[in-house]
Amino acid sequence: MMKKILFVASEGLPFVKTGGLADVIGSLPQALHREGFHTSVVMPLYLKTAKTMHDSLIKVKTFKVKVGIFDTIATVYVKTIDEIDYYLIEHSAYFEREGYYGYPDDGERFSFFQHAVMRMIEEKVIEPDVLHAHDWHTGLIPLFVKTLYRDRIQHPLTIFTIHNLFFQGCFPYSMLESCVGLPNSYYFDGSLRFKDGISFMKAGILYADLVTTVSETYSQEILTPEFGESMEEILKLRKKDLYGIVNGIDIKEWNPATDRHLSATYQLRNVSKGKQLNKCAIQKELGLRQDPNVMLLAMVSRLTDQKGIWLILQSLTQIMGWDIQLIILGTGDQHVESQLKTIEYRFPQRAVFYCGYNEALAHKIYAGADVFLMPSLFEPCGISQLISMHYGTLPLVRETGGLKDTVEPYNEHTKEGTGFTFAPFSVDDFKHVLWLAYEVYTFRHDDFKGMIKQAMRKDVSWDKSAKAYAKLIHKRFK
Ligand code: ADP
Ligand code: GLC
Repeated sequence: MMKKILFVASEGLPFVKTGGLADVIGSLPQALHREGFHTSVVMPLYLKTAKTMHDSLIKVKTFKVKVGIFDTIATVYVKTIDEIDYYLIEHSAYFEREGYYGYPDDGERFSFFQHAVMRMIEEKVIEPDVLHAHDWHTGLIPLFVKTLYRDRIQHPLTIFTIHNLFFQGCFPYSMLESCVGLPNSYYFDGSLRFKDGISFMKAGILYADLVTTVSETYSQEILTPEFGESMEEILKLRKKDLYGIVNGIDIKEWNPATDRHLSATYQLRNVSKGKQLNKCAIQKELGLRQDPNVMLLAMVSRLTDQKGIWLILQSLTQIMGWDIQLIILGTGDQHVESQLKTIEYRFPQRAVFYCGYNEALAHKIYAGADVFLMPSLFEPCGISQLISMHYGTLPLVRETGGLKDTVEPYNEHTKEGTGFTFAPFSVDDFKHVLWLAYEVYTFRHDDFKGMIKQAMRKDVSWDKSAKAYAKLIHKRFK
């Protein structure tokens, strides 16, 4: 019988997206469906979905949910797209807000969400064989399966995937009883205790049958104090069940040959012409000097310390002394945004900062740029470098996490490579590798063109990784 996998996540395409997690939730279920699983997804019904898609959602069931010490009500809707059922949990007070995260009651909101998912299973809306939970917003799911809901549902295999250990879902100890619904002993015996409070991430790590991260290198890095975010000892306890499986991208959605956002579509055989047309189009759209020959650098990113934006800001004066242009699309920390807002005045027609989230613009930038900057301090996997390689835009990355696993560094002797890489997190090393990219772009045209081809030929689809997930799951059912 086809095994049923239910993905539980806080965001996912085609509904809502703030980062790479949504890309994964929007594409891994399809890939596992192709591997012979019945896959479905459950996430909260946010305001954006309520506003834009409500008419196409089918109401499934309304039921009571006990969240710790209080009772409330949830309604589940479903929308089926390409044979995948997307369940959306409605609770207007918790989720119909402008944003998604960062509210003072996040602990309560996502406690409710996870209780509602368990109740939905108890109500037999779906009876999964595998519950695949993602990041801290769903870390209680594996714990609930083994405790509160143990006798009320069939016991599914639980997988907890860490997309970013930096966000740990830490809340006051009092929430254990009030929202999680478990006795204080779970704090006092250390099970959920983390830094004077409790952590949902810790629950996921300790209680899931399998723990995965989104690249092999990150799965090793997080066992060290440098990357472990104070959870390295907890992770070491699960070493035997910890796996790193690298992300892929949805190559139907991200396909330069069919991309509806581009002014000119292109593929490997006409990549030079295609990229040139897209470069001119984006230069024009964003008010940069139109010049097909200038090296165009780009970044599409959340603007936080994780993404190494300081390396760019600290070397800006020097690198803008070279004949280059720079586009940054992103939103995030206020102090980063305010510094970036000055670049258009400092480097007129040569640098532009688009502050915000813009899907269509992102597509055009991936297609039009020559080099994609991603000098991250840490990077569990990274989706952006995969997209940029697929669009023939060479990523310049720091050798960490998934960036290390997916970008092959330029080798000037063999001419092999799909991007440019550096290791120590320092402004000098960043400038150094950027200069190398500039030099190759300017003086070694054949090498640069050869790298573009290698980047575009690289398999960034989900095929291999979906097989790896499938293998892990099948092994547990033997
Ligand atoms: P993270 O999840 O850590 O933010 P990833 O590289 O895994 O980083 O995924 C980021 C995803 O979000 C990519 O699909 C990228 O194109 C997209 N993205 C990030 N910032 C923006 C933005 N400002 N506008 C449009 N897309 C963005
Ligand atoms: C997180 C990580 C990113 C990863 C994404 C999807 O947001 O920061 O590296 O690609 O999750 O797994």
